[in-house]
Amino acid sequence: MSADNFTRSRRLRRTSNIRKMVSETKVTAEDLIYPIFVTQGKGIKKEIPNMPGQFHYSVDQLGEAIEEVVSLGIPAVMVFGIPKTKDFNGSGADDADGIVQQGVREIKKKFPDLTVITDVCMCQYTTDGHCGLVVDGEVVNDPSLERLGSIAFSHAEAGADMVAPSDMMDGRVLRIRRELDQADYQNVAIMSYSVKYASSFYAPFRGAVNSAPSFGDRKTYQMDPRNRLEAKRQAAIDLDEGADILMVKPALAYLDIIREVKGDAPLAAYHVSGEYAMFKLAAKNGLIDETEGMVEILTSIKRAGADLILTYFAKDMAKHLHY
Ligand code: PBG
Repeated sequence: MSADNFTRSRRLRRTSNIRKMVSETKVTAEDLIYPIFVTQGKGIKKEIPNMPGQFHYSVDQLGEAIEEVVSLGIPAVMVFGIPKTKDFNGSGADDADGIVQQGVREIKKKFPDLTVITDVCMCQYTTDGHCGLVVDGEVVNDPSLERLGSIAFSHAEAGADMVAPSDMMDGRVLRIRRELDQADYQNVAIMSYSVKYASSFYAPFRGAVNSAPSFGDRKTYQMDPRNRLEAKRQAAIDLDEGADILMVKPALAYLDIIREVKGDAPLAAYHVSGEYAMFKLAAKNGLIDETEGMVEILTSIKRAGADLILTYFAKDMAKHLHY
């Protein structure tokens, strides 16, 4: 190419309208899933200290919170429960009148069209804070499956549209699928936290739901951040076991993994509490523009290959899209 005939890329960057016309990635409200925390009690709407802008809601306060989500065109919420008590078996997790079950019933009663997804795990409910059952200081796989199946069933019974196992036990997707099918919940979908890394970025969430493990860590069941190929294997296993939607978690530090895992199946990515909190703090201190940064982060996650994004920014992002 001669020097007087170089390529002018800037022609298509000249105006905001032209940039919009040629933009390759658009985040829409339909891509977003809003995580919400339900707690015991009445009249509670309490901000989570390490997750600015996020709240614990008691069941009676959910209506108002979700009203906003629905009015912004966000199609789904992910429900997390904070139980009053914990025990060895995590028996609050599959209690028909447990906190998630109450929350789901309330949400479905008020907003039958909203897609309600539930996090299926034991760590908020067990005294040791692990995601499976602990025997002799070890998180045991197969006995945990029975508990997880039972938790998923109780969420389906409460009206969940999708269940999302986040425990990382082997075989849980298959077990949950069987349990749901046997109970005639063939239409309840499984969004599997298939590729979930043992990440430091979950810390604010663990503070919010009081689920940090009382001993050890989660490295014997969650994935090693050094691995990329394992993510592909893990996703293939979950699809084979019957997962309908796959998930990569965290998102921003794992964009390469999102790209790697994106195939024919719908893929979600979870922009987790620590990723959210560190950005919020930077924005609060005036280091980064909050709206511009948020849009850039979520667009990057979509560009990497995620079809759906679980994010504490869902409402802020949807508001931004509405303007
Ligand atoms: C439960 C669960 C966790 C998150 C989602 N489900 C915590 C963990 O695995 O320790 C993290 C969500 C976030 O950090 O925003 N197992």
